[in-house]
Amino acid sequence: MPDSEFTLPSFAKINLHLRVLGKRDDGYHEICTVFQTISLCDELSFAPSKDLRLTCSHAGIPTAGDNLIVAAAELLRTRYSINKGARIHLEKRIPSPGGLGGGSSNAAISLIGLSRLWKIEVEKNELFRLAAELGSDVPFFLLGGTALGTGRGEVLEKLADIDEPSLLIVTPDISVSTRNAFNGLRRGSLTNEDSNHILQNCRFEVGALDMRNSVLINDFEESVFAIHPVIKRVKQTLLDLGAIQAAMSGSGASIFAVFDNKETRQATLKALESESSWRKFAVAAISRSEYRKALEIAY
Ligand code: C5P
Repeated sequence: MPDSEFTLPSFAKINLHLRVLGKRDDGYHEICTVFQTISLCDELSFAPSKDLRLTCSHAGIPTAGDNLIVAAAELLRTRYSINKGARIHLEKRIPSPGGLGGGSSNAAISLIGLSRLWKIEVEKNELFRLAAELGSDVPFFLLGGTALGTGRGEVLEKLADIDEPSLLIVTPDISVSTRNAFNGLRRGSLTNEDSNHILQNCRFEVGALDMRNSVLINDFEESVFAIHPVIKRVKQTLLDLGAIQAAMSGSGASIFAVFDNKETRQATLKALESESSWRKFAVAAISRSEYRKALEIAY
């Protein structure tokens, strides 16, 4: 067991492309998405302890079993018959909820951190299986960088890095439930024939994805914008202020924008100063190698 406390970053993601293909028999939706890790991150500290205790810098975040960090710890303890505890502290910076995968990232980093703290050798495929049990987006945070996610988001394929140093995330003060966003789509059931066809189409769109010239698609935008027009206003404002691209991430409420350079992004941040209830984060894309290095991933 590491003798002293150690800290790991827990990065956020954006969805550069997000298609919801249809509803499955298990109640989940079949999706086709491009995940991208970004430099905005929480910090998770792990220290040896007899019992399991989670603290958080933000009062609004639950610290009991409904927090995915605690769920990840319990899952590892049960699966590997561990009777040790841990003192875990979460320094929260990623808006939650915000469509930026904060909770899923925390869960994945907890699997990584706690298996190190408890010195458990978790085989790579098993680590990905445990992550998928915790949530559809969790396995991606074991990989990082740019990746295609299919199935319910847990079937991953590595994609080439996307180098975008001048991104801006803007999160209005709105809470969107992912479950409600999926239910709000009102799609028909997916037949196997359709699913193959639609998935092929989506793969084609992803293959041709160009951050500067493609229209970035998020299938949640239409229904989520209809309920929360302020999110649409964030997107339009960013485009009006000079963003090359802007799209919602996940089921919202965050909008990410791509800028040509840091100067235009800075001017946009200045122009947005009066929007005091919108949280703003100037970030860069994090490549898979940067991600692996930051987390000292060896698998
Ligand atoms: O997998 P996760 O627990 O993060 O999903 C939260 C909720 O979002 C699920 O209970 C489900 O209602 C919905 N969901 C879905 N299809 C997906 C992912 C999530 O319907 N691919």
